[in-house]
Amino acid sequence: LIHLLSLDRLPRDILTHILDTATSFVGMNEREVKKVPLLRGKSVFNLFFENSTRTRTTFDIAAKRLSADVFTLDIGRSSTSKGETLLDTVDNLSAMAADLFVVRHSQSGAPYLIAQHVAPHVHVVNAGDGWHSHPTQGLLDMYTIRHYKQDFSNLVVAIVGDVLHSRVARSDIHALKVLGCPEVRVVGPRTLAPAGFESMGTRVFDNLQEGIRDADVIIMLRLQNERMSGALLPSREEYFKTFGLTPEKLAWARPDAIVMHPGPINRGVEIDSAVADGPQAVILSQVAFGIAVRMAVMAIVAGNDA
Ligand code: CP
Repeated sequence: LIHLLSLDRLPRDILTHILDTATSFVGMNEREVKKVPLLRGKSVFNLFFENSTRTRTTFDIAAKRLSADVFTLDIGRSSTSKGETLLDTVDNLSAMAADLFVVRHSQSGAPYLIAQHVAPHVHVVNAGDGWHSHPTQGLLDMYTIRHYKQDFSNLVVAIVGDVLHSRVARSDIHALKVLGCPEVRVVGPRTLAPAGFESMGTRVFDNLQEGIRDADVIIMLRLQNERMSGALLPSREEYFKTFGLTPEKLAWARPDAIVMHPGPINRGVEIDSAVADGPQAVILSQVAFGIAVRMAVMAIVAGNDA
């Protein structure tokens, strides 16, 4: 693996290898992540052209735990505001001896463009591109599910909300199918969870009760207002009434169901605080696991260079 741009074509053994490598970095306490010298002497550049709290920070921590030198370009204060192109920016940072670029961009495909452009010894990891893909979120979600449910072979997983605009949902669906999850459900209003998702091997529901009935794992998604025109955007109150996850509605799932969310959460829109802060939520564990998973990805793509 030279780059990680998407989970689309990754076979099961590679996904499992990444998850197992992440496990090897975690200590006795699940939030304790070891520092290792695997990327000592390497330079990791974080290029976040779109805002981020979790992904950017955990990539930063992960690169430091791998002993790499880490540089996070402040895009808002960079020369992109003077008209410098994406590839010119990359060329200039490559001239500073970058070994790995971590790229988030609102345009689907931007990390691919960079991967095609850089020298063969330079690696690219996609940290979320448009609606397309968020492979490390998909991997940390699989790590979280495996941590709490051990294996995927009997699970019902429901992905609820604005699936249409969700790069996380696309990455999760690919990974769940490859890892052998027998039932992946997509749940939401038809405008945001269209029947087209059936071609990805999911069952599509526009009724929350049917969609989460007996689910083992519920992945809640926020309404991505920034990617919607007015016609698609439901009112927050109406949406919460119909698809917002409250403790009463959570009771439709299995009693030991876990509730996940990639963040940021919008309390009172897709999820009630009593669920987000409740005993079945594993949302902050997802964030913590993101460090080891991103370490594993960077160590695997960039760790074997001469
Ligand atoms: N899950 C996720 O990508 O969060 P951020 O946008 O904060 O990185």
